[in-house]
Amino acid sequence: MEISHAVGSVMELGDILQRIVETGARIMETNTCSVYLRDDDEPEFLVLHASWGLSRAEELGVRGFRWGEGLPGWSAQHNQTVALANDRHDGRWAQLDDTAKEAELKAYLGTPLRIQDDVAGVLTFRRAAEQDWTHEEVIFAEFIAKQVAIVLEKASLYEEKVEAERLAAIAVSLSGVAHYIKNVLQNMMGGSYFVETGLKRGDVDKARKGWELLQRSIGKIQALVENMLTYSRDWKCELEPLDVNAMLAQMAQQVEPSAFAKGIRLTLELDERLPELQADEDALHDAVLNLVTNAVDVLEENTGGEVCVRTRRDDAAGVARICVVDNGPGIPPDVQEKMFTLFFTTKGRGGTGIGLSVTHRIIAEHHGSLSFDSSPDEGTTFTIELPLNTDRG
Ligand SMILES: Nc1ncnc2c1ncn2[C@@H]1O[C@H](COP(=O)(O)OP(=O)(O)OP(=O)(O)O)[C@@H](O)[C@H]1O
Ligand SMILES: [Mg+2]
Repeated sequence: MEISHAVGSVMELGDILQRIVETGARIMETNTCSVYLRDDDEPEFLVLHASWGLSRAEELGVRGFRWGEGLPGWSAQHNQTVALANDRHDGRWAQLDDTAKEAELKAYLGTPLRIQDDVAGVLTFRRAAEQDWTHEEVIFAEFIAKQVAIVLEKASLYEEKVEAERLAAIAVSLSGVAHYIKNVLQNMMGGSYFVETGLKRGDVDKARKGWELLQRSIGKIQALVENMLTYSRDWKCELEPLDVNAMLAQMAQQVEPSAFAKGIRLTLELDERLPELQADEDALHDAVLNLVTNAVDVLEENTGGEVCVRTRRDDAAGVARICVVDNGPGIPPDVQEKMFTLFFTTKGRGGTGIGLSVTHRIIAEHHGSLSFDSSPDEGTTFTIELPLNTDRG
């Protein structure tokens, strides 16, 4: 009952196996109980996954036996239980551990862990005393092995389910990203058409208009690629002292043309007292740029739209704030709930829904926080808080 209780629990696989080997050794009155599993990456090896009583227990995850080698390897290969009063007298015996502990153990009982027609590993019991195993003990060991197999099957089904959901999510999101790129490419085609006809007719204004369209589109693809790379798993930010005001001023210059084209005023209110902050320049730049791009996106053309990027030093709170303020329509409550979810966008083909997720992640890497305040028809303020403490590593 104790074992089936562990099997049905919601603990981590490793913890469940550990609980089973402890209970198994106690009930079987053995000196050790161990679970060896076939390695995912190197299936010719059996790796120790849970163990009680073995001096190697503190080294779980080490390779135990080759498939077919030693008594556990033989059990796995032949899909058969082996019960011996003294394993040293058996030709299949191979040493696992060179410590004194290993030398003390004589009686061996090992039984395969069967998942349908496959052998996933071996469950072993060992006793110091040279002693035959009773029929009941062998049956009971096989029963415990069945329980372990159920746990393993449950865990692998769960993994498959998570993987399937992940793949489905990637497929959906890739199609969103592809649509977005297609959209940007269409703008680029339009831009290059203007450039071409402008050049042909010597119409510099037309060519310039096309060129600007092309540049904006290149910027969009660049931002998308950078966001995707940041979101990829292995990214880590490198914190160094950074003049955040200077970085923001440079970013404003970069965004200015697209804001201007929409008739939106972009202003900076930078706090001169801001010290250098521990930050990753490229990452923080992308994080704020995502917020500014969102603000510019949400404002209607030529209706007095304004975006302000503001910095503040707050010594009392020990933080520096970067605020991105817009006077747009605000964010509806149902959007607020979902907007930090990866790939959530209300812009259809005009967005990928990566921006805020990336910003959130970057700020977390900076040991900072991201919050927002939004009211209908008045606008939205996104606030990044970063620690002022500049000697942080
Ligand atoms: N300042 C804002 N005002 C109103 N709505 C906003 C604002 N910022 C974000 N949103 C909402 O949050 C959604 C998610 O934003 P996010 O930046 O993650 O994705 P996106 O802008 O749609 O696409 P991407 O940034 O990847 O091109 C937006 O689609 C928009 O509906
Ligand atoms: Mg965005």
